[in-house]
Amino acid sequence: MGPLIISLDVAQRADLFQLIDQFDANETLTVKIGMGMFYGEGPQIVRDLLNMGHHIFLDLKLHDIPNTVENGMRQIGRLGVTYTTVHALGGAQMIAQAKRGLLSGAQDAGVAPARLLAVTELTSITPQELQAEQNCRLDMADQVVSLAQLAKKAGADGVITSPLEVPTLQKQVGKDFLYVTPGIRPHGAPQDDQARTATPREAALKGSNALVIGRPIIQAANPVNTYHQLLEEWENAER
Ligand code: C5P
Repeated sequence: MGPLIISLDVAQRADLFQLIDQFDANETLTVKIGMGMFYGEGPQIVRDLLNMGHHIFLDLKLHDIPNTVENGMRQIGRLGVTYTTVHALGGAQMIAQAKRGLLSGAQDAGVAPARLLAVTELTSITPQELQAEQNCRLDMADQVVSLAQLAKKAGADGVITSPLEVPTLQKQVGKDFLYVTPGIRPHGAPQDDQARTATPREAALKGSNALVIGRPIIQAANPVNTYHQLLEEWENAER
């Protein structure tokens, strides 16, 4: 069973530490840092969190020509993060070189290599956009499976997906691949802009390997208690 990753979608360093500092200093968290925080604060914010003993999911969704992505991933690999992301739409060669960059950066720096997760179609893309803008001949479900298969073949370690899609992906792509799932909501919590959600227990039953949870934790009256409740549900779910 993988971690419950807290998505720290806040604008500034001070807001991030205001949340982190509420937790016991001995508690090891896995936190997702996105492009807003990274572009604003640079890699030092990642190093600071790693120095505190936390694990990082650095979600930068790289997508460029293979050589450029490999160079970017070499730098990410040096940091010692646990997970990072590419767009599967960049193609098999780009994904393979992303992986190569990550491995070589990690080896240079003497740290464990990050797991490479692929984003398939963004959940913001509608089936209409898939056809009219991307000129895709597959429907959304088949396109997501196709991109996940491509990512796996090219050397990615997993994909980001809705928990509701995991059973299908496990069948068509395999169980030897990580399914990291946002779109998690506790029972009765607001859905925000997430269209299709699952609870931590439901996600576990469907085969999620790791959860990504943002607003239900960071906007809670007591983020630490909420995190522990969700973690207990995730860890104690029957699998
Ligand atoms: O606040 P919430 O729990 O919805 O946050 C989920 C996190 O996962 C956010 O950082 C969001 O950008 C990310 N995410 C998502 N759906 C995807 C891919 C990423 O919600 N398909």
